[in-house]
Amino acid sequence: MLKKEYGKDLSRLNTFGMKVTARYFYEYDSLADLLDLDFEELARPVKHIGGGSNLLFTGDFRGTILHSAVRFMEVLSQDASSVTVSVGSGVVFDEFCARAAENGWWGVENLSLIPGEVGASAVQNIGAYGAEVKDVIRTVFAYDTREGEMVHFDASDCAYAYRDSRFKHEDGRYIITHVVFSLSKQWSPRLDYGNLKAALGLEPDAPVPSSLTPMQVREAVIRVRNEKLPEVGKVGSAGSFFKNPVVSREKYEQICALVPGVRVPHYDVADGVKIPAGWLIEQCGWKGRRSGNAGVWGKQALVLVNATGQAEPEEIIRLEKQIVVSVRDRFGISLEPEVEHI
Ligand code: EPU
Repeated sequence: MLKKEYGKDLSRLNTFGMKVTARYFYEYDSLADLLDLDFEELARPVKHIGGGSNLLFTGDFRGTILHSAVRFMEVLSQDASSVTVSVGSGVVFDEFCARAAENGWWGVENLSLIPGEVGASAVQNIGAYGAEVKDVIRTVFAYDTREGEMVHFDASDCAYAYRDSRFKHEDGRYIITHVVFSLSKQWSPRLDYGNLKAALGLEPDAPVPSSLTPMQVREAVIRVRNEKLPEVGKVGSAGSFFKNPVVSREKYEQICALVPGVRVPHYDVADGVKIPAGWLIEQCGWKGRRSGNAGVWGKQALVLVNATGQAEPEEIIRLEKQIVVSVRDRFGISLEPEVEHI
């Protein structure tokens, strides 16, 4: 069925809780309904959204918002060591993580509780605790609105990078309909990131018990996220607001010199050194601060929040600009938003 609404209130369709409307809102629950749409006729701009968990609406949307309610999870094949699952773009990503953990399948347990839907996960290459969704994506199926045909891409053709993919750069050309994931039945926990081992009650150097299950890792990830991040549905936010910047080693040394006696958190990456934006923002004194109805989360400075539930887009943007300026003044680094502004 194709559901068509006009003047749609979007406040429940964006986790920031911005009180904005869309001129047209179309939701489809089958591929046939999507294919029935006449893309030439839609009021522009056209924007496809997922769970609205990585978006900042900067005002009322004057075009057409599309949303997938294609919700299925189907095992395509399996053997003793792996399983291939096809999942509709409108499935809540964490429901897929829960299903995988319940079945003892490895691969998405570290991505537990990330808000959003399966289609958006493949656009955004969501990641957490040392895992990225690209590592388990086998094929992405999409509708090519330009050519008017179904297409599919192997993961290696999706130009996946840190929170990035080809789908982010082709201006809404492809609408993801479903994603085929390849998960493992073989014991393969990834606990190297941050405090995941501690959350499982393991010492940093202790061997990981072979009895550990994906469900136990999932539960530990959920505990850690709940400690640090605002609860979706209670406090408006879009998760990490900024990307973690990558700087040269020389720049990293300069930053260390700016904060003598302080250990600057960092990760070595292929093209330099990645510094957590949350740390930079905290160093500038923003953690837990309010600016009107907008604020910086007190337990993780990378997360901007709709502190009172009444924030206007302008208040979030004003706070964003203030943070960018203060990090640039103090450290000479220009933070870039991770959240998409539309
Ligand atoms: N840190 C601070 N102060 C803060 C926040 C962080 O000093 O206020 C420092 C700490 O030293 C900490 C380090 O930054 O050890 C890293 O923090 P954290 O583990 O919370 O990760 P992050 O780099 O801030 C990234 C992702 C998150 C993901 C976590 C866990 C980005 C932009 N964000 O945050 O993703 O959950 O790692 O893997 O890459 C999201 O994308 O919406 C998101 C929440």
